[in-house]
Amino acid sequence: MNILLLGNGGREHTFAWKIKQSPLCGKLFIAPGNAGTQLEGTNLDIAVDDFDGIRKAVLEHNIKLVVVGPELPLVKGIYDYFEKDEALANVTVFGPSKEAARLEGSKAYAKEFMEEFGIPTAAYAEFTPETVEEGVAYIAAQPTPIVLKADGLAAGKGVLIIDDISEAQAALREMLDGKFGEASSKVVIEAFLDGIEFSVFAITDGRDYKILPVAKDYKRIGEGDTGLNTGGMGAVSPPSFVDGVLMHKVEEKIIKPTIEGLQSRNLTYHGVVFFGLIKVNDEPYVIEYNCRMGDPETEVVFPRFRCDLVELMLATKQGRLKEVETVISDRFATTVFLVSGGYPGSYEKGKLISGLEQVHGSLIFHAGTKLDGNDVVTNGGRVIAITSYGNTMEQALEKSYENASLIDFQFKNYRRDIGFDLK
Ligand code: AMP
Ligand code: GLY
Repeated sequence: MNILLLGNGGREHTFAWKIKQSPLCGKLFIAPGNAGTQLEGTNLDIAVDDFDGIRKAVLEHNIKLVVVGPELPLVKGIYDYFEKDEALANVTVFGPSKEAARLEGSKAYAKEFMEEFGIPTAAYAEFTPETVEEGVAYIAAQPTPIVLKADGLAAGKGVLIIDDISEAQAALREMLDGKFGEASSKVVIEAFLDGIEFSVFAITDGRDYKILPVAKDYKRIGEGDTGLNTGGMGAVSPPSFVDGVLMHKVEEKIIKPTIEGLQSRNLTYHGVVFFGLIKVNDEPYVIEYNCRMGDPETEVVFPRFRCDLVELMLATKQGRLKEVETVISDRFATTVFLVSGGYPGSYEKGKLISGLEQVHGSLIFHAGTKLDGNDVVTNGGRVIAITSYGNTMEQALEKSYENASLIDFQFKNYRRDIGFDLK
C-alpha cells in the first residue's frame, strides 16, 4: 500500500522509519520531508496545508493512507476534506476530524471539554475583547503566577506565565488587542500548576485506545531548564517519576474520560491524542491536549513501541484497534537534539553537516536538514535528533552524547543535561 506522510521534522523522520518497517508499506512519499525522510522514501514539494496539492499527489501515486504529522492540516480540516470527496473515498487519513482537532486548536474548547467530562486540569476563565475589563478584574483576584493562553494556534508562543498582576493585566489587554492575531481574539486565563511535566500518547479510533510509551521532553534552550522555550531539545522514555500507580490514575482519570467524551460528543477521531500532563502531589492534571504525536517525544516513543504502525493506523479507521498487537520495550530510549546556534532566536542555515557516517549505535532522525547536491546541510533551528537505547537511562544518554560529539556543523549547540534531573 502506498503511503503519504505529511511534515518535515524529526517526528516525521521517525514516523517514516517506523512506517518502512511495516510489511504493509509499499511506496512511501513524504511532503515536504527533509534530508532524512529522503532516505526512507520520496519527498514531494507540497506544503502540509495545501489540500488540493495533497489530493493531486494522492490520486497520482495511488496513495491509500495519509499520515498527518503536524497539527496545522488537522486543525484546518484535512480529515473532513478527504471525507467529503468521493474520489478519495478509499483513502484513510490518520488524524482526527476538524471538530475533534479543536481539542488542540482551541484552548477554550479543550478547557470546556475537560470541565464537562470531569478531567483534572487547572481552574480557568475565558475572556474576549468585549469582556476585557472583567478579565482585568479577574486577574487582580488571582494568586501569581498567572497563566495566559491565546485560544488558537500561535506557533508555540501563545502561552505566557507572568508573576506580576499588573503585567498580566497589560498582557491580557495586548493579547485581546491582537498580539497573536486571530489566535488571541479569545484568551484563557488559568491557575499555575507547580509540578513536573510528562507526555502520554494514545492511539484511538474514538472508542478503543492503545497507550504508547510515556515520555518527557525538555523544552527550554538552556541547561537546568532555563532560557527561552524551544520546540524541544531532547526527550527520554520512560521518565523515572512516572510509575505504574501514576499511569493507572492517568488512564482512569484522564484517558478513559477523554475517549468517552469524544464518543459522547460524536466526534470522529482516528488518530493520536497527546496528553500534555503535569504531576502535582502525585496527581496527574492535563496542561493541554494535542491531536498529533509530540516532537521530540516521537523520537523516543516509536523506538520503544513494538507494533506494525501501519496496521495500527489502518485499524483505527476500520474500528478494530483492539485486535492489533502492541508491546512496549523494557529498554530506555533517549534523544538529544543538535540545534543551530542562535535558535530559538535567529540563526543561519545552510551549514554543512559532517560526521553522520561515524555514528554507531544510535538512530539519527533528521529535522531541519536538506540535501545540497550530495551534502546534507542545516535548514532549520532543530537539526538532528540522536536517539539511543539502553538498559538504563544513563546508558542510553551516554550513547546519545557520544554520537552528539561526532556530528558537527558550524554553530552546533545542544543541551548536555537531557535526563540528568531524573538520574
Ligand atoms: P501549552 O501550550 O498549553 O502546552 O503551554 C506551554 C507550556 O506552558 C507548558 O508546556 C507548560 O510548561 C506551561 N504551562 C501551561 N499551562 C500551565 C499551567 N496551568 N501551569 C503551569 N505551567 C503551565
Ligand atoms: N514536545 C511538545 C510538542 O510536540 O508539542
